[in-house]
Amino acid sequence: LGLKGRDIVSVTDFTKDEVETILKTAKKLEPLAREGSSLLKGKVLATLFFEPSTRTRLSFETAMIRLGGSVIGFAEPGSTSIAKGETLADTVRVVENYADVLVVRHPLEGSSRLAADYATIPVINAGAGSEEHPTQAFLDLYTIWRELGKVDELNIALVGDLKYGRTVHSLAYLLSKYKVNLFFVSSPTLRIREEVSGDLRKLGIRFEEKTDLKEVLPTIDVLYLTRIQKERFPDLTEYEKVKRYYRITTDILREAKSNMIILHPLPRLDEIDTAVDSTPHARYFKQVFYGVVTRMALLALVLGAVE
Ligand code: NCD
Repeated sequence: LGLKGRDIVSVTDFTKDEVETILKTAKKLEPLAREGSSLLKGKVLATLFFEPSTRTRLSFETAMIRLGGSVIGFAEPGSTSIAKGETLADTVRVVENYADVLVVRHPLEGSSRLAADYATIPVINAGAGSEEHPTQAFLDLYTIWRELGKVDELNIALVGDLKYGRTVHSLAYLLSKYKVNLFFVSSPTLRIREEVSGDLRKLGIRFEEKTDLKEVLPTIDVLYLTRIQKERFPDLTEYEKVKRYYRITTDILREAKSNMIILHPLPRLDEIDTAVDSTPHARYFKQVFYGVVTRMALLALVLGAVE
C-alpha cells in the first residue's frame, strides 16, 4: 500500500485505505513535528508558488525541515524566468533536476495535473485555482479525527464560499469516503458547484444545502468556515453583496453543541470574530500545527521514507 512516487493532485485519486494510511502516518510522525528528525536527510523539496501563500508554503517548508530535508523554490514568480515567458511545463522539467519532490501552487485549474504529467518526480498540488487543494483537505480531515476521535457519524457544515473555495471542494470529496452528514451552507450565489454536488449524489452521499446557518448550528459537530474568495470573483459588486454573509460571534455560538469545533483554512477576514478565538470551539490555530504534521506524512510517504 506504499505511496512512494505518487503525485498528490486530487483527493479523488486516493482510496479510503490510502487516506487512512496518511492519517496513521501523520499520527506516528506527530512527535517529530516538534523534535525534528533525519528521515529525509539529503532530500530536496522545491516549492513553485505562482500565487500568494503564507501558511501552505511555510507549512511545507517546515515539514521538510523537521524531517531533515532541505527546501528551494520561489514565492514570487516575477523574479524568475517565468517573467521571461517560460511555460509551466518547462519550469517543471528544469526544477525537477534540482529536487526530489515538487510542490506547486498556481491560479489555473488543471495546472497541477499538467505539472505532474511533465515531472518524473512526485508533484504535490498546493492549490490549483478554485479547483482543489488536496493537502489542505488531508490536514482538515486529520484535525477532525485527532480532535473528535472519529470521522464517521459526524454532522459537518461547510460554510461560506462554496463556489470558489478550493479547500471546500477537496474536503467535500475527501469526506465523501466516510459516513458523514454534510451540510453546505452558503449564500444563494456561492452554492457548491453542480459538478461537485453531482459527483456526491452519484456516490450516494447524504448532504443538504442551506442558506441559514442557524438551522444547522445546534446539530453540527464541525463548523468549517471559509473566506469569501474575493480574488476569484469576475464581478466585485457581487463580492460586496456577500462579503459579510456569515459572521461567527460568541453570541451565535450559544446555540452550538458544547463540543462543536470550528475549523478554517485561514486566512480569516471578518467571518470569525476574534473573541471566538478563546472559546473551546476554536481549533483553527491547532489546525495549522496539524498541517505541518500532515505534510510531513505526505512528504515521507511519497519519498518512500515510511510505508
Ligand atoms: C486557502 C487557499 O489558498 O485556498 N488558504 C490556505 O491554503 N490555507 C484558503 C483561502 O485562501 O481562503
